[in-house]
Amino acid sequence: MNRSLKVGVVGLGLMGRNHLRVYSEMADVQVAAIADVDAGALRRAAEAYSVATYQDYRRMLERERLDAVSIVVPTGLHREVALAAAQAGVHILVEKPIAPSVEEGLAILEAAGEAGVKVMVGHIERFNPAVTALGQRLDEGALGRVYQVQARRIGPFAQRVRDVGVVHDLATHDIDVMRFLLRLQVRSVYAQVQAGIKTDREDALLGLMRFEDDVVGFLDVNWLSPQKVRELLVLGERGLFRVDYIRQELAFYQSCPRAKRRVGRPPALPPDPTASGAAPQSIPIEKKEPLRAELEAFLAAVRADAETPVSGADAIVALHIAERLVESARQGVALDVLSPLASAPQEGRA
Ligand SMILES: NC(=O)c1ccc[n+]([C@@H]2O[C@H](COP(=O)([O-])OP(=O)(O)OC[C@H]3O[C@@H](n4cnc5c(N)ncnc54)[C@H](O)[C@@H]3O)[C@@H](O)[C@H]2O)c1
Repeated sequence: MNRSLKVGVVGLGLMGRNHLRVYSEMADVQVAAIADVDAGALRRAAEAYSVATYQDYRRMLERERLDAVSIVVPTGLHREVALAAAQAGVHILVEKPIAPSVEEGLAILEAAGEAGVKVMVGHIERFNPAVTALGQRLDEGALGRVYQVQARRIGPFAQRVRDVGVVHDLATHDIDVMRFLLRLQVRSVYAQVQAGIKTDREDALLGLMRFEDDVVGFLDVNWLSPQKVRELLVLGERGLFRVDYIRQELAFYQSCPRAKRRVGRPPALPPDPTASGAAPQSIPIEKKEPLRAELEAFLAAVRADAETPVSGADAIVALHIAERLVESARQGVALDVLSPLASAPQEGRA
């Protein structure tokens, strides 16, 4: 039996309510307290769960002696709340993106380091079982050489607090997943964005990333599309993997075998893949709520006093790449990406 941990949640909007529900479903976790400036949000949550409620998260941190806290307030407030949690000696799960800027994100890591508390960032797609299964296959070399990775994350705009643009808010998911799966660093980026349509910031991104080992990444991300798509493609020598994040599905399309080359003749044209009609192989996935897997991994790291599976450094690098994409679009040129950390650690998989 695991030691019971006392946790709190700050921010009870769309995502914070999910954190509260998932923690409440865990046998060895006591959700002791929740905080939100919105009295109505607090009251509604308290009707469903028996927890102490606070409109001031600072009071909650002072009084409750929590082991861990989920910080699920708008991104612009992550630093403020995380610094208070670090000062109170509470381990931190902060939602993605870690902060609106690398500078603010680094301030969180510094405060946590000084206080000796753990920081994990809610890059939830790493915990999507289809992504985990794809990671295992890539590690086993199922694709041979990897050529390209592409993500499409498009859908309708939903009214919530939008204190960062779509590159920071949504593209950071895919930037992180790509780095996580490929275990490669991004060397340069080029992007075009469209802004000022639904928000004052970026509403759409078409971005290119050049990874180490000659791998190219493509990001098609917006909150303008009537159709919701969450898709990841990884193309390599032996075929193509396709992840449907929403359905938690993974499919593999095998490349046609290479045509034999006759000595003294020019290479035969490759067979037309569109004509091959090869059926995709659907890979069985054991479905699981990604947030549940993420929060379990966070609390396991707290219990074991181990590294969190998504480190603050990972989140800073994803955020830095997002910033470079936005800057590339502003300048209209490709930009190099240098690590914002003295030594960006390469992290292992969860
Ligand atoms: N991992 C994911 O897939 C995912 C999905 C959605 C949102 N998020 C992230 O979660 C965070 C919150 O997003 P959301 O969609 O839930 O936002 P939201 O606007 O729905 O909710 C934010 C909540 O924070 C509360 N709040 C604001 N200021 C506060 C303060 N000073 N103290 C306490 N509470 C305060 C608001 O009253 C509101 O209830 C963002 O960082 C966002 O990027 C992550």
